[in-house]
Amino acid sequence: MAEHTKVTVGVTGGVAAYKAVEVVRHLQDAGFDPHVVMTASAEKFLQPLTFSAITNHKVITSLWSEDAGAMGGELSGIEHINEAQTTAALIVVPATANILAKFAHGIADDFLTTMYLATTAPVIVAPAMNVAMWQHPATQANLATLRERGVTIVEPGSGYLACGMTGGGRLAEESAIVAAVAEVLAKHSSHTTNDLAGETLLVTAGGTREPIDPVRFIGNRSSGRMGYAIAQQARARGARVILVSAPTSLPAPEGVELLPVTTVEEMREAALKRLPEASMVVMAAAVSDYRVSEVSQQKLKRNGPRTLTLEPTADILREIVAARKPETLVVGFAAETENILDNGRAKLTRKGVDALVLNDVSGTTTGFDSERNAGWLLTVEETIELPESTKAVMADRILDKAVTLRSTRSHAAQS
Ligand SMILES: Cc1cc2nc3c(=O)[nH]c(=O)nc-3n(C[C@H](O)[C@H](O)[C@H](O)COP(=O)(O)O)c2cc1C
Repeated sequence: MAEHTKVTVGVTGGVAAYKAVEVVRHLQDAGFDPHVVMTASAEKFLQPLTFSAITNHKVITSLWSEDAGAMGGELSGIEHINEAQTTAALIVVPATANILAKFAHGIADDFLTTMYLATTAPVIVAPAMNVAMWQHPATQANLATLRERGVTIVEPGSGYLACGMTGGGRLAEESAIVAAVAEVLAKHSSHTTNDLAGETLLVTAGGTREPIDPVRFIGNRSSGRMGYAIAQQARARGARVILVSAPTSLPAPEGVELLPVTTVEEMREAALKRLPEASMVVMAAAVSDYRVSEVSQQKLKRNGPRTLTLEPTADILREIVAARKPETLVVGFAAETENILDNGRAKLTRKGVDALVLNDVSGTTTGFDSERNAGWLLTVEETIELPESTKAVMADRILDKAVTLRSTRSHAAQS
């Protein structure tokens, strides 16, 4: 999935139509280029102008616009076919009971329904309706049909509905809809792209351990899942991957060269040794900033208060940046709990990396030792939000950006 991927947002005639505006904004923040299609009923709730103003694209409202059959596209001159073939995903938000029924039964009587039949891109629907409409067996049967045909349903939540009732049928949160889009597209792209073929990725992962005595160490809560996800997705996209890993409980990703290490010094040695082979380096390991000055050779016994003297460890990221070939791209990671964006941008500059992934580790469902993650991807020019998603999806988003930055870096290195 490339940066600024075109996606089509279908807006239908429900009270939650106004929330589609926020979804479009969130999609833009997540790096997508949304184009909007509105049904006739949606126009009763919102003006197309709202969407054209924020997307900078014409909003499609009819199958029968003047240029519908005359649009000079590479793939087709017919507008709905062109839209169907050039979009990476169709997202319907909100999805009325009516649109679900039409999709399920193959009715094609306006632009959105005709485009739905004509597209092979993944389809994501976010239903919103009155609770009785939601629970109606007809609606539930239509949803089951769509699910079976591979449509992703972003389940509505429960709560107060505009019809005055409380219950199921309330549009899912905007962030959940955007996360579903990113997730579906990452899955789709990892099966179809080989855009890292010819690249060698050096990835660090896991949490280092600095010994205190023969049985104790200074460690951290990193599970290694983020770095392993990067290694796995990069391999799936055609890269050769060298994974320098501090201890984790994860199985070695298939097809990846695994180099197990324990301490910062071991990680430093292994990473610097293999650096000359790498065209991209992703430093996802949680590296201890300090180690014990004098490691006890014997197990320390309980004997009243004890003070451990700590000394700083090597700054591996900085050494990698200094020792890399000019065309080698370096992506760093930072875990922050406060002033996340300010601290991240300062670190990006201080370390001289091409991109920095900022992990928000203050959340309870994301970050360390979690299946999911959220944060930001900083480059010198951009701040890209990485909405909450699985670590595999986040890995793909990071790799998408790395592919773009890498081509810029190798051009700059050649000229
Ligand atoms: C004020 C009002 C609010 C509506 N809200 C919803 C809604 O939230 N969900 C829904 O499925 N239908 C809702 N409807 C009904 C749809 O607008 C109607 O089924 C329409 O045919 C949908 O057309 P579309 O799916 O082509 O946009 C609402 C209708 C009105 C008049």
